[in-house]
Amino acid sequence: MNSPLVEIDFTGWEQAHSRPEWTAAVEDGKVLYFPHLAFMVQPEETPLLREDMLASGSRNVSLGADAVLKGAGGSAGDQQKLATMIGRFRQQALQLVDGLLPEYKGKLRVAPTSFRPRQVETRAQSVRADDQRMHVDAFPSRPTYGERILRVFTNVNPQGAPRVWRVGDSFETIARKYLPHAKPYSLWQAKVLNALHVTKSLRSEYDHLMLQLHDLMKQDDDYQKNGTQLTMPFPPGSVWVCYSDQATHAVMSGQFMMEQTLYLPRGGEVNHQASPLAILTRLVGRPLAGVGEGSAR
Ligand code: SIN
Ligand code: FE
Repeated sequence: MNSPLVEIDFTGWEQAHSRPEWTAAVEDGKVLYFPHLAFMVQPEETPLLREDMLASGSRNVSLGADAVLKGAGGSAGDQQKLATMIGRFRQQALQLVDGLLPEYKGKLRVAPTSFRPRQVETRAQSVRADDQRMHVDAFPSRPTYGERILRVFTNVNPQGAPRVWRVGDSFETIARKYLPHAKPYSLWQAKVLNALHVTKSLRSEYDHLMLQLHDLMKQDDDYQKNGTQLTMPFPPGSVWVCYSDQATHAVMSGQFMMEQTLYLPRGGEVNHQASPLAILTRLVGRPLAGVGEGSAR
């Protein structure tokens, strides 16, 4: 396996600049890793790094563009400080992406920023929901039609615990491995799921195949154990960026992370040919992501 990671030595958010080979690497499904780019947790924010800053029943705390905080526990004062901390990360993550990937300027849609105070290794989950299994991100309720999921992560663990990921094979490798086992797309089934509001819009054949890859990978115990993979402990004070719909990944352990998602419209890449949509289209041999496209069965 070629290294799935590219190290970049920025030591400050304002230092972010671009290089064509970094853009090409992230568009090729690599993880861009910034070992010396720290998000600075302020002394008055350290007490917020506790598990009960998450409201019971929530998976994550999130801060929207409207500055509204969702899913948070703690007192009103704690929540105000938490919103400030997450907001600062949001601004720095956007500054990083602006400098690092200027080709996307004006194209990206910014999702809410998330803070994840749960300990990964004690989370019990079904196979499909278990992110300790290698996967590419694909969400059952939210079809993307090829819109890309670019993510900026930082570890803010106060005790020095790394966020341990596994990263693995290229998207094309796993697409070739699992496509032959994928259930065929069914337009009528997609219509039923949409009518029942299981999906927020009609699931395209692309979204169906992405979910199939996600599920088939997670269900494959042999691949989970013996597939090509590199264990990567991301220490506190580091940042990493990847297209999580393309980079095969799993999170094994860690606690206290922040994450910023940015959506790039379909076809907005510098090299669209490297994208999951282009790879799947080539392998299947027909268009996959138009509304209602695909072989209706
Ligand atoms: C994931 O996208 O699989 C989760 C990443 C993480 O929590 O570190
Ligand atoms: Fe994931």
